[in-house]
Formats: sequence, C-alpha cells, structure tokens
Amino acid sequence: MKEAASQDRQGGFDPGGLRRQFAILGRELAWLDNAATTQRPELVLRVMDEFYRKHNANPRRSVHQLGTEATLAYEGARSKVAGFLGASAPEEVVFTAGTTAGINLVATGLARWEIGPGDEVWVSAAEHHSNWVPWQQVARRMGAALKVMPLKSDGRLDLEAFRKGLEAHRTKWVAVTWVSNVLGVENDIRAVCEAAHAAEARVLVDAAQGVAHLPVDVQAMGCDFLAFSGHKMYGPMGIGALWGRRELLEQMEPMIYGGEMISRVEDGESTWTEVPWRFEGGTPHAAGAVGLAAAVDWLRELPPAAHEHEAALARRAAEELAALPGVRVWGPAEGRLSLVSFSVEGVHPHDVAQVLDNRGVEIRAGHLCAQPLLRRLGVESVARASFFPGNTADEVRRLIEGVRAAQELFT
Ligand SMILES: Cc1ncc(COP(=O)(O)O)c(C=O)c1O
Repeated sequence: MKEAASQDRQGGFDPGGLRRQFAILGRELAWLDNAATTQRPELVLRVMDEFYRKHNANPRRSVHQLGTEATLAYEGARSKVAGFLGASAPEEVVFTAGTTAGINLVATGLARWEIGPGDEVWVSAAEHHSNWVPWQQVARRMGAALKVMPLKSDGRLDLEAFRKGLEAHRTKWVAVTWVSNVLGVENDIRAVCEAAHAAEARVLVDAAQGVAHLPVDVQAMGCDFLAFSGHKMYGPMGIGALWGRRELLEQMEPMIYGGEMISRVEDGESTWTEVPWRFEGGTPHAAGAVGLAAAVDWLRELPPAAHEHEAALARRAAEELAALPGVRVWGPAEGRLSLVSFSVEGVHPHDVAQVLDNRGVEIRAGHLCAQPLLRRLGVESVARASFFPGNTADEVRRLIEGVRAAQELFT
C-alpha cells in the first residue's frame, strides 16, 4: 500500500487531492470505467446548480433580466468551448446532446447531400458504433460504398492502405476516431486529414476519447468537423459539442426543426437563422452547457503530471495483466493513453467484471460498441479498465487481484 501511494506521488502530483473534489468517490469504489463516463468534480455540479438557482430562464428568447443572464451564461459557455477547441470563432461551435448527435448531424445534414452512387466513405476499423453506423446508413441510402481503413498490428491506422484507397478518387468523406475506446491508442489525425484533403475528401473526427487526455487544436489537426461529449471529460451528460468549419456549417441542413432555429416561417416554407443556432432547435440544455464550460476550466487546470499519472496507471495495469498467464492485453505496447482492454482465457468478460464489482472495482465488459473491431480481433467481448488522474496504484493492485480471483473461480 505504502509503495503504491509513493508511486502515485511521482512527478509531484497527488491523486488523493484531486479525488477529494469528487463527492461520489467518497464511496468505497475504484472507478475504473472513466472511458464510459467520467465522474464530475464539485465545481461542475455547483455551477449547474447555480444556473438553476440563480439564473434560470430559457436562453435566447426573453428580454427580461433572467433571460439575459441565461443567454449570457449559455453563449459564454460556447465561447469557452470554442477557446478549448482552438476554433476561430464561437459560431463554429454547435451544442449537441453529445458525440453521437454531432456525428449524426454531419452525416445526415451535410454528407448525405454530397455523396452519390459509386462514391466512397471511409471509416477506420477502430470506430465506435456512433462513428460507424451513421456513415454506413448514409452510404447505403445514397448507393455509396463504406470502406474500412485497416489497423496495423500495433492497433494504429494503416495509413498506407488508406492512401492507396484514396487513389481511386471516389472518396467523399472520412470519419475517424482520435483515440480508440478499445485500444487506447492515439491516431495520427493530421496525417489522415492531409491525405483526405489532397483527395478532396472531408474529415470528421470523433474526439470522444481524446478530449479528456490530450490538448485539442482543431486547426493543428486540420479536420473539417470534430465531435465530443461533455460526460467523458468531467462535464454533464446530455451535452456535447460539434465543431465545424464555418463555410461547411453554412452548407449543412438542420436536423431538428422547431423553435428558435428559424429566421421566418410562412405557411408553406421556412428559412433558417444563422449558424450555429439553426442546429439548436428547441430549448437548449443550458445548465449542461454551463457545466461543460466549468469542466473545460477544470480540465485546463490539470497539470501535465496528472495526464502522465493516468497514462502510467494504464501502462502499469497493461503490464501486470499481460504478465498473468492466460490474460491477453489488446492495444499497443507503447503509447497507451489511459485505458486497457483485455481478455482472460476461459473466463467471460462479464464474469471478470462481476468478480471485480464484488470487490468494489468497477470496470466495463462487453463489445464496447465496437463490434467491427472486436470481430477483427477475433473476440465477441472484452473487459476494459479506464483511468483518470484521481485513480491510484492501489486501485491497479485491486484490479489485478480481482482478475486473479476470477481466474481461480472460473478456471
Ligand atoms: C470513441 C467513442 N465515440 C463515440 C462515443 C459515443 O459517445 P456518446 O454516447 O456520449 O454520444 C463513445 C462513447 O463511448 C466513444 O467512446
């Protein structure tokens, strides 16, 4: 225990101090399911509570005092998110319900109109269903082909195969994940964008698993759209953002029609208000937006040592799991960010998760919404432990002990 605690303090970072900002972690639980959803620090909860207690009104509608305060809070949150992403202007940020909603908006609101029979849409083999199914469906409907960028043996994108595929000059869209939710590996988004743009294709980046761990800069990435969820970066559920290049947002059709997204409504036709509000029909999740902005502030305060700590925990877990007989660790030996997926020979991942849960260690088990990838790995489901900077070396120890206990019980 003592040895584990001193390992936690390496680099001067104290996970215990960070952890105390999370009321829920006062429970005797090792939360190792951060990739599914992170917990929220007090700051985020307080700011959302304050919105409802002190400033609540329907934003962008009412001229009264509270209406103005709510609008300022909501639009202030947009500016904060724009700064976080490196956007050129707040108007490039659309508030959505999360990554899935953002991707669906782009696929059906823009890509669908740009894709025709014989065209190609690329996804990578490592995509979450949220960045696979929308493209699969749009391609199907428009008579286009869905192409799959293969992975190399280290789990990274096979860019050579992708570049070769682009030579057919049929590619219109490319949808790719920044960080795989199964392999924990960062993809070279810049290289994907350069290759795609040289072939005059557009690129959407699924940043759901990246934003909590890596600095974001949409300009440096060179993408056309980027989507993420608040709840995977210490913010609320039900809110996320889609960043898009202004000129492309201008071309995109809204997906949700209704209040406050219009310019003028006639009996038989309507025109839309400006970007990005035309994509935010209906009453917005204003408290969520404010909470997301607070999460951005909180995340930006984390020192680099915090991210080194979470990656070190994932590395350590991967090494110790791989050292257990009968355990197979998925993903790269080098460059793992903050999660580790694994299989235990002769033990179903759900049983592994159940034994761990009995010991107060919470991990994820199942297909991780990545069936195409798991099929390629030759498994139906896996177990996954995912970390945040408040986790400790002692929790890794409990993870390993729990996996050993599952092996003893089931094999
Ligand atoms: C890589 C990736 N993309 C997309 C999603 C979907 O995110 P959400 O359910 O918040 O829309 C997830 C969630 O697990 C994910 O890990």
